[in-house]
Amino acid sequence: MGRRRKRVATGDGVPSPRKEEKAPAPPRKEKKKKTDIGKVFINISIGLCIFSLIWFFYALYMRSSLARRVVTLHPSPRVLDANSSSPAVSPERYWGSYRPQVYFGMKTRSPRSVVTGLMWMHQFAEMDGNLRHTCEQGDHLLGYGWLMHDGVSFGVQEIHDRDFTLTTEFVKRMGGDHGGDWTWRITAKQHGTALSTPVVSLMFYASTDGQGSLQAHVEEKNRVSSVTGTSEELGNFKITFGKPTAGEGASAKYARYNFLQTRSPGLDKLTDIVKNSLNHKFIFSPPKGEKRSYFAVDTYKVTNHQNQQNDPKMESDFVVHQVTVQTPFQIEVLFESGSFRERPNQLVGSVLTDELEKRKVAFDEKFEATFGLQAKGFTSSHIKFAKAALSNMLGGMGYFFGPSVVQSVYNEHPVLYPEGPLFTAVPSRSFFPRGFLWDEGFHQLLLSKWDTQLTQEVFAHWLDLINIEGWIPREQILDDEARSKVPSEFIVQHNENANPPTLFLALQELLEQLDAELVSSQTMLPFLRKLYPRLQVWFEWFNTTQVGPVPNSYRWRGRDKDTNLFLNPKTLTSGLDDYPRASHPSADERHVDLYCWMTLASGVMANVARILGEPHQVYENTHRSLSNNDLLNELHWSENLHAFSDYGNHTQAVSLQQEKVFVPPGQPRHQFPVARLVRSVRRAPKLQYVNALGYVSLFPFLLHILTPDSPKIEHILQAIKDPERLWTPYGLRSLSRADPLYMKRNTEHDAPYWRGPIWININYLAVRALHHYGSIEGPYKEKAATLYQELRTNLMNNVYKQYLETGYIWEQYNDSTGRGQGSHPFTGWSALTVLIMAEKY
Ligand SMILES: *[C@@H]1O[C@H](CO)[C@@H](O)[C@H](O)[C@H]1NC(C)=O
Ligand SMILES: *[C@@H]1O[C@H](CO)[C@@H](O)[C@H](O)[C@H]1NC(C)=O
Ligand SMILES: *[C@@H]1O[C@H](CO)[C@@H](O)[C@H](O)[C@H]1NC(C)=O
Ligand SMILES: *[C@@H]1O[C@H](CO)[C@@H](O)[C@H](O)[C@H]1NC(C)=O
Repeated sequence: MGRRRKRVATGDGVPSPRKEEKAPAPPRKEKKKKTDIGKVFINISIGLCIFSLIWFFYALYMRSSLARRVVTLHPSPRVLDANSSSPAVSPERYWGSYRPQVYFGMKTRSPRSVVTGLMWMHQFAEMDGNLRHTCEQGDHLLGYGWLMHDGVSFGVQEIHDRDFTLTTEFVKRMGGDHGGDWTWRITAKQHGTALSTPVVSLMFYASTDGQGSLQAHVEEKNRVSSVTGTSEELGNFKITFGKPTAGEGASAKYARYNFLQTRSPGLDKLTDIVKNSLNHKFIFSPPKGEKRSYFAVDTYKVTNHQNQQNDPKMESDFVVHQVTVQTPFQIEVLFESGSFRERPNQLVGSVLTDELEKRKVAFDEKFEATFGLQAKGFTSSHIKFAKAALSNMLGGMGYFFGPSVVQSVYNEHPVLYPEGPLFTAVPSRSFFPRGFLWDEGFHQLLLSKWDTQLTQEVFAHWLDLINIEGWIPREQILDDEARSKVPSEFIVQHNENANPPTLFLALQELLEQLDAELVSSQTMLPFLRKLYPRLQVWFEWFNTTQVGPVPNSYRWRGRDKDTNLFLNPKTLTSGLDDYPRASHPSADERHVDLYCWMTLASGVMANVARILGEPHQVYENTHRSLSNNDLLNELHWSENLHAFSDYGNHTQAVSLQQEKVFVPPGQPRHQFPVARLVRSVRRAPKLQYVNALGYVSLFPFLLHILTPDSPKIEHILQAIKDPERLWTPYGLRSLSRADPLYMKRNTEHDAPYWRGPIWININYLAVRALHHYGSIEGPYKEKAATLYQELRTNLMNNVYKQYLETGYIWEQYNDSTGRGQGSHPFTGWSALTVLIMAEKY
C-alpha cells in the first residue's frame, strides 16, 4: 500500500496531473490573500509535523538508547584482557574440572570448549534408568565430592553410589601450546553391604560445542581405543581409553564395549541422547558367570535419527565409549595435546601413580601451612573433612560463557546481555551450579587464603560483567546447560535489583593480605588500579539506586509486589529471601542490613582509593557518617525490641487463610479451583519498626560497625546467647523462636527458609565478630571471647557430625535437631567452616 501511493505522487517520470492543474489562471487578489493565510497555515502545519516527527524520532531514539543501557557494558578498560584465560597466557589453568554440574568432567577455560565427561549405570540393578551424569539430588547418592583438589593441577573425588564407590582422579601435565595433557583414573570398589558383585557401565564421552570435530577409532568388539579430534582452541588432540584392570599392573578384566558416535544439538542434551540410544539387546557373559542382557548405547539408531531431525550446522560431535565391567576395577583415560612434542613418557600406570602421590603430598603440606589444623590438634578425620570442604569448593569452580537474560523498565521484553565469560565458584554442584553474586564474596573469603591469584581472577571476571549503569546481574545463568536447571520465571535479571556486595568482604581480605605483605604489591596494585573504576561505579550504583527515604538510609529494591499472596512479601535481592521485612512494601522502608553493607563498602572504597592515591575524601566522608553509631541508632534501633531493625509500613497481625471459593448450591465442589492460601490482615499497617529479631538485627555487629564500647553490644550478646531467641547447640538460628513468623510458611508451597534454620555464612560472620570484639579493648571483651569459643565449637562440631552421618555438607541446618537440610552438597559458603576451624578471619 505505502509503495503504491508513493508511485502515484511522484508519477514515475510521468508529469503529474496536479502540476498541470496548478499552472493556468493566475488567482485573483482576495484569493491570493486567502492563499497566503492558507500558506501560513500549511507552513505552520508542516513545521509542526516536522517538529513532531523529530520529537517522535528523538523519543524513539531516547527510548531505544535507554533500552540499550541495560545491555551496554561499562566503557572502562576491562580488568582481564581478552586472552587472560588462553593457553598462551595461563596454560596451567586452561584445562580443569570446570563443569561443577556434572559428577565428573573437564573442559577448558574458553567460550566453546570441547568437553569431556563421565556417565555411568549400575547394570542388573533393581531399578532401570539409573543413568548418572549431572549432579542430581534425586539420584540419592550416599555422598560425593572432591576430597583433594588444588584448584589447578590435580583432584581426587569419591562418589558413593548405592552398592559401590567410584574414585575419580585427574592429574595434569604441562607441555605444548594448549594446556598440556591430563589423565583420569577411575577406580570402582563394591561396598561390603552389596548383595551381589555390581556390574557397572562407565560411559566416557567427549563432545564439541559448535567448534571442531571428533573421530572415534574403533577396534574389534566395538571397543573405542581412542578419539582424535581438533578444535580452534585445542589444536589436535587424542584421547586414549585404557582397558579395565583389577588394579595397577594387573591384567585386563573381562569387559564388554559399546560406543556411540553421533551429533548433538547442545551440551544440555547429552544425557537425553544417551538415554534415548540405550538398547537392552547386548549380552554380558563373563567367563565364570551367567549370561545376562544389559543396557548399552546403540551405535546406529540414534546416529541416523539425529541426522535427519536437526540442522547439521547447529550440531556438534559427540562420542561415547561404554565399558561394562564387574567391580572391582580401574580404568585410565589419557588426553594428549598434539602440540606437546617432547613428552618424556605417557602419564599412565606407575607414572601416574607417582605423580598423584607427589601432588597429594604437596596438597597436604600446603593445606597445613595455610590452615594449621594439625597444629591446632584436630583429628585426622576432622582434617579430612576440612580438606573435602575446601576441595569441593575448588573443584566446584566453573567456567561459563554466554549472555544473561536481562530487562529494565525500558525494555518491553527481556533482552540478551553481551556474551561474556565467568570464572566463579558455585554454591552447590547439584542445585545451584552457577554464579551467584552474593555467595561469591563468601566463597572468596575461603579461596583467597588458599590462592590469592585465583581470587583476583574471579573478582576480575565478576567486575568485568558490570554495565554502564554500574549494575551486575546477581544470578549468572549464562548457557543452555545452566538455563536447563532454572525455572523460567527466575531466568530474567532486572537491573533495579541489587544483591549484597559481599565482594567487598573479599576485597577487604585482599587489602589485609597486601598490608601484611602476604601478596606482592607488584601484582596487587595494578590489579586494584584496573578494578578501581568499576568498583567506583558499582558503589555509585548502590549509593544512588538503593537509597532510602531519609538521608543516609538505604532500601532494597525488588521486593515481591503481590502482597496478598505471601505471608510476608519476599526480598530476594537482600539474599535473605523470606526473612521478615515490613509487611507492606513501600518507599518508606529502610533496611539495616543494606545500611551495614554500605558502611563496609564505603570503608573499603576509601582504603582502595587511599592505596591508589586517588581522591578518597568522598568515601571517607560517607564511611564516617555511616559509621557514626548515633546515626545508626537513630535510623535503626528499636527500643521495643532492644535490637536493630528495619523500618517500614508494617503490621504483625497477618496470617495465611484459605481463600473463600464460592460454590453455587447443588454444584460439585471439585469442579471449582482449589482454594488458595491468601494473606489476611487483621490490623492495618502503619509506619514503624518491623521488630523481627534475627540475622538482620545482628548486622551492625556482624560487620563491625558498632564501636567496642557501644551498649548495644550488650543487648546483642544477650539475644545471641538466649536459647529462646537465637542460640542453639548447632549455631545461631536465622530468626528468633519468639518471632511471630518463626518457622512460618510464606505460601502453601514456600517452606520457611531464612525463618529459623541455621546458615553458615552468617554464623561465620558472627564468630568473626565475636572474635573481633573479643580481642579489642571494651566492656564486652570477655563476654564476646567466651561466646566466641562456644559458638565456634558448636558450629564446627555440628557441620562435621552431619557430614560424617550423611556424607554431605548442607545448605542449612535444622535449629532443633542440627540436621543438614536443603540442597546438598553445599560447599559454597557452608565450607567457611574450614576458616572457623582454622580461626582465620
Ligand atoms: C590475543 O590472541 C590473539 C590470537 O592469538 C591475538 O591476535 C591478539 O592480539 C591477542 N590479544 C591480546 C590482548 O593479547
Ligand atoms: C552517597 O550518597 C550520598 C547521598 O545520598 C552522598 O552524600 C554521598 O556523598 C555519596 N557517597 C559517595 C561515596 O558517593
Ligand atoms: C500502608 O499500607 C496500607 C495498605 O497498602 C496503605 O493503605 C497505607 O496508606 C500505607 N501507609 C503508609 C504510611 O504508607
Ligand atoms: C527441623 O526438625 C524438626 C524436628 O524433626 C521438624 O519438625 C522441622 O520441620 C525441621 N525444620 C525444617 C525447616 O525442616
